Amino acid sequence: MQNHIFSLEGKTALVTGGSKGLGLATVRQLERLGANVTLVARNELEVAKAALETGARGLVGDVSSVQGVADLLERCGRMDILVSNAGGPTPGKALEMSEADWYKGFELTFMSTVRLAQGLMPHMQAQGWGRVIAITSMTVERPNPNIAVSNALRAAVTNYLRTLALEVAPHGVTVNAVAPGYFATERLNSLYSPEQKENLLSSIPMSRIGDPDEFGAVVAFLASSASSYITGQALQVNGGFGIK
Ligand SMILES: NC(=O)c1ccc[n+]([C@@H]2O[C@H](COP(=O)([O-])OP(=O)(O)OC[C@H]3O[C@@H](n4cnc5c(N)ncnc54)[C@H](OP(=O)(O)O)[C@@H]3O)[C@@H](O)[C@H]2O)c1
Repeated sequence: MQNHIFSLEGKTALVTGGSKGLGLATVRQLERLGANVTLVARNELEVAKAALETGARGLVGDVSSVQGVADLLERCGRMDILVSNAGGPTPGKALEMSEADWYKGFELTFMSTVRLAQGLMPHMQAQGWGRVIAITSMTVERPNPNIAVSNALRAAVTNYLRTLALEVAPHGVTVNAVAPGYFATERLNSLYSPEQKENLLSSIPMSRIGDPDEFGAVVAFLASSASSYITGQALQVNGGFGIK
């Protein structure tokens, strides 16, 4: 694998929200390409399970506060690759969300990415190679009426990343968002009944829900040197959702 453009041998990677779902699938794929991965989540048992399954280092941490990110950055050390991810903010319609819901979502979804990128950037810039990738959502293009906070803040994250991409491009650091469509994770199962999931299929040209490993593979590609000329992009990974 050494010297192969997809190889991540010798690279360190931090994946937040890495104990389950799309984050865990990303950890799996990065490990497969040879990266030295640190995964982070809040639940200690789930972190330990995910670390055992993947061979990654597991850290218990919470990215939804300034202190949580500072603690994490202190413990994780230098990282060549950041995959910024966490659970989605509180669901609900735009007019139903409280001030507290908006601010909580802002800390969890927006500031976590800003703080992590800011903290890890000096090393990436100094070595002239780095990757910042955030997991966002298909809702940046097509808002889902029931997740107002997510719709708004994912769009903010996307444009923050595009701005950051401009700043760090001369230093060999690429910055991209990956926007998932529907993937078979615990979260999806908790949001949709089996009947609702069946109904979703008619809106997906590929007529199936995605396998999280198909998502992780795209993130791993963006983390690799094979993607060296891709920056400032928001890549939709969704089986064609939205094109029909
Ligand atoms: N699955 C889909 O089809 C889909 C579609 C569109 C968008 N998305 C978005 O993609 C992201 C990942 O989705 P998923 O389905 O993989 O979610 P998931 O299965 O709920 O996994 C979320 C992960 O994030 C961790 N986490 C949550 N809050 C955290 C925090 N404050 N600090 C650190 N870790 C935290 C969770 O572990 P702990 O709870 O133990 O911390 C878990 O490891 C979410 O933001 C979701 O909204 C998913």
